[in-house]
Amino acid sequence: MKLLKTPQEAKKELMKFKEKSIGFTPTMGALHAGHLSLIEKSLEENDISVVSIFVNPTQFDNPEDLKKYPVLLEKDLALLEELKVDFVFLPTYETLYPDNYAYQVQENEFSKKLCGAFREGHFTGVLTVVMKLLNIVAPTRAYFGEKDYQQLQLVKGMTEAFFMDVEIVPCPIVREKDGLAMSSRNLRLSKEERKRAPLLYKLLSSNKSDADVKLELKKNGFKVDYVETLNGRRFGAAYLGKVRLIDNVEI
Ligand code: PAF
Repeated sequence: MKLLKTPQEAKKELMKFKEKSIGFTPTMGALHAGHLSLIEKSLEENDISVVSIFVNPTQFDNPEDLKKYPVLLEKDLALLEELKVDFVFLPTYETLYPDNYAYQVQENEFSKKLCGAFREGHFTGVLTVVMKLLNIVAPTRAYFGEKDYQQLQLVKGMTEAFFMDVEIVPCPIVREKDGLAMSSRNLRLSKEERKRAPLLYKLLSSNKSDADVKLELKKNGFKVDYVETLNGRRFGAAYLGKVRLIDNVEI
């Protein structure tokens, strides 16, 4: 497994595999079984697999959330080595944003709904960094989890709008035994919050109305951003303490 530190180094190295298929999984690290399922799919479907680890500051609307985002680089690298990933790209803000975020990729419709209505600038940060990463890695396929369903749709839309030569591969949500969708932020739940957290999935999958699900979550100490049904899916986002959980289910 080779570590790539700068966009220039990554481009030069990956160019050598132009004739091969390249699978790419962008992450912010603190890898869990959800990430590993994306990476395993990439390893199965491509000649070469690349994973990036970069906690992207431009997508955090809350500085406290950025500061507390779990960083477990040594453990992540050991996991990726074990999986036999070919390349890990580890850029820094300075190398990935030589323009200091003067250039941005913005979507003006779907990104304003659901999470976008509560997290100012979040999806502009996500789309901008994903555009940069895709331009550097130039993958055949890129893997995104359905837990961040809105992100997945927006990234897919961006690649279509800008005629980008990459297949966006959606990967199903991986859940803990009690139904909680896997997320790096789950590490920040207290023991007691962790016990309550699966209620979000349980209620989203129930046949209660969106309004009743919201009420029930509030009764159980969640601070709800939204519960909304859109295009055959029910989406929810709510805080338990300082940790924001999101989930969605097909209905
Ligand atoms: O889903 C994530 O972990 C991030 O939003 C991504 C796609 C790696 C961009 O920073």
